[in-house]
Amino acid sequence: MSAIITAKNLFKKYGDLTAVDGISFEIQEGECFGFLGPNGAGKTSTIKMIHCVSPVTAGTLTVDGLPAHIDNRILKKKTGVIPQEITLDIDLTVRENLMVFSRFFDIPKRVARERIDGLLKFVELEAKRDSKIDQLSTGMKRRLLIARALLNEPRIIIADEPTTGLDPQARHLIWQRLRQLKSQGATLILTTQYMEEAQQLCDRIVIMYQGKILKEGVPSRLIEEEIGREVAEIRIAADQDEALIARLGGFSCGHERAGDTLFFYCRDGQNLWRKLIELDLPNTVHRPATLEDVFLKLTGRSLIE
Ligand SMILES: Nc1ncnc2c1ncn2[C@@H]1O[C@H](COP(=O)(O)OP(=O)(O)O)[C@@H](O)[C@H]1O
Ligand SMILES: [Mg+2]
Repeated sequence: MSAIITAKNLFKKYGDLTAVDGISFEIQEGECFGFLGPNGAGKTSTIKMIHCVSPVTAGTLTVDGLPAHIDNRILKKKTGVIPQEITLDIDLTVRENLMVFSRFFDIPKRVARERIDGLLKFVELEAKRDSKIDQLSTGMKRRLLIARALLNEPRIIIADEPTTGLDPQARHLIWQRLRQLKSQGATLILTTQYMEEAQQLCDRIVIMYQGKILKEGVPSRLIEEEIGREVAEIRIAADQDEALIARLGGFSCGHERAGDTLFFYCRDGQNLWRKLIELDLPNTVHRPATLEDVFLKLTGRSLIE
């Protein structure tokens, strides 16, 4: 594998506001790379620079061997973007939206027509081909954006929060399609605020927060390294923590109090779980560790606003 995108000490500033604060990363050809982070972390700002629609403030950013500068037409042709905002022309039908877009890439009409038929099938919108945009559900609009991003047969596909606000069925359908694109050899760049989505789709992720990268790695390994395998959440009054920790000692689990909950993070939670059943504590949840635990450990469990 070789890097298709390389960023070194990349900055994005809007006036006094630093949205991307000196980040470095490498995206390998053919992988699914995720930018995971809450609202305002700097995810969209980063991918807009990759897609050459927003100028780099400082640092270097190379895409497929070329510097990503604003309006780099060659790079724009190699990438397909599924934007965070639904940017469809509401006066046009599904098919017309795609036809208009195909003209930006100078795709001959006959080729465009064929491609559009194939893409509408791929995103399961054939039945809606002549519908106006306001007759589509949010999930359908998102799928149409996927079809639109694929019109120029891009090698690099960028999906900016492709499932935000969708119900589980719509979300899973989009996940399937994105996985399919990856299996066909595309490099997939995904931003998401959903830890589960990153875990489901990404080979590697960076966790972004306030413009910086806090961690980088393979999701399952990050969880294992930062948290362990299992988490027990025990909702008891804080004045009982010490006694409980003393009783549950010896299982080499880390623990943390946050709000109404005492968390135990364990490499092997089986013994702890047996003990918890023995103690018969009410209001206890035992579950596998997730990326959400990693994120909350890195940023703190309390809300910072
Ligand atoms: N065009 C813009 N002008 C000024 N500030 C912006 C602009 N776009 C984004 N920001 C600010 O930059 C920060 C990062 O935003 P963004 O990259 O959209 O984050 P994310 O996609 O992770 O939610 C936020 O504080 C946001 O308000
Ligand atoms: Mg965003």
